[in-house]
Amino acid sequence: HSARTTWQAEVHRLARERDAVVLAHNYQDPAIQDVADHVGDSLELSRIAASTDASTIVFCGVHFMAETAKLLSPDKTVLIPTAQAGCSLADTIDADQLRSWKAQHPGAAVVAYVNTSAAVKAEADVCCTSSNAVDVVNSIPADQPVLFLPDQFLGAHVRRQTGRDNVHVWMGECHVHAGISAADLRAQVAADPTAEVLVHPECGCASSAIWLAGVGDLPADRTHIVSTSGMLATARGMTAKTALVATEIGMLHQLRKVNQQTTFLPVNPKASCRFMKMITPELLVRCLREGRDEIEIPLDVAERARQSVERMIAIGR
Ligand code: 13P
Ligand code: SF4
Repeated sequence: HSARTTWQAEVHRLARERDAVVLAHNYQDPAIQDVADHVGDSLELSRIAASTDASTIVFCGVHFMAETAKLLSPDKTVLIPTAQAGCSLADTIDADQLRSWKAQHPGAAVVAYVNTSAAVKAEADVCCTSSNAVDVVNSIPADQPVLFLPDQFLGAHVRRQTGRDNVHVWMGECHVHAGISAADLRAQVAADPTAEVLVHPECGCASSAIWLAGVGDLPADRTHIVSTSGMLATARGMTAKTALVATEIGMLHQLRKVNQQTTFLPVNPKASCRFMKMITPELLVRCLREGRDEIEIPLDVAERARQSVERMIAIGR
């Protein structure tokens, strides 16, 4: 056996022993994606976490994702290979800041992107992910103001798609996606004018992608502003020679797996999330061996945060 086969076999053996299911986000290192039982976007993985029979969930992703799994499966053990795997977007708002913002907008519905701590979710009315943000906001009465947090680019996307001007947006951003700029996108499209374009709505270039599509620099019918799993769905039937991908580069692995005909190129090849990449084979094996790091959420916070996540899961069921 090569060393690679050995650690993979060890993961499978330890997971069986612990009655654990291993989940991996689309941005994980390819080796981690390949060893996991399920790979997906935030919404898919939350749904799997909520419905699995396994007594332990090992979450290869960032901390808020593992927390969301724990909220949905409070009686299960939820482990993350390192609790250090945070999220710069989730860190742009804390519960105190949200309470002050709410005080300025009494009566508004609070929609929190899942990229938030459990303490922030506890202050929200409903959660959303990038794949259901528009549906979640549409489920709120049209005349009720909405506080949307924490991502400004996803917020702008929601405002555009819903046509609502009563959606107030928190000005947070993800350092990785904000770094995928309109200039990067423009340069890549100019170099490859026949390519399909896949853009995550958290990207700095998402607003300009729409704008560029409008003015003709970008092919509107070939521009897809979608979540990570929306990208996979779009890629499946694609016949184009190339597709330009504006999101974290871990995504390329699944895209290349589902469609070997199209060449998938990153709009910004440096767009790598250092938090996602903290999950290594060594730490995954340690996690399964030693049962660490375990996710724990104070009961009062968990109860309120769970309601926000469950309301989201119920929408679109
Ligand atoms: P998805 O909801 O599309 O999986 O994205 C999660 C995320 O962290 C984006 O940066
Ligand atoms: Fe957070 Fe951005 Fe990393 Fe996603 S890519 S986990 S939003 S820091």
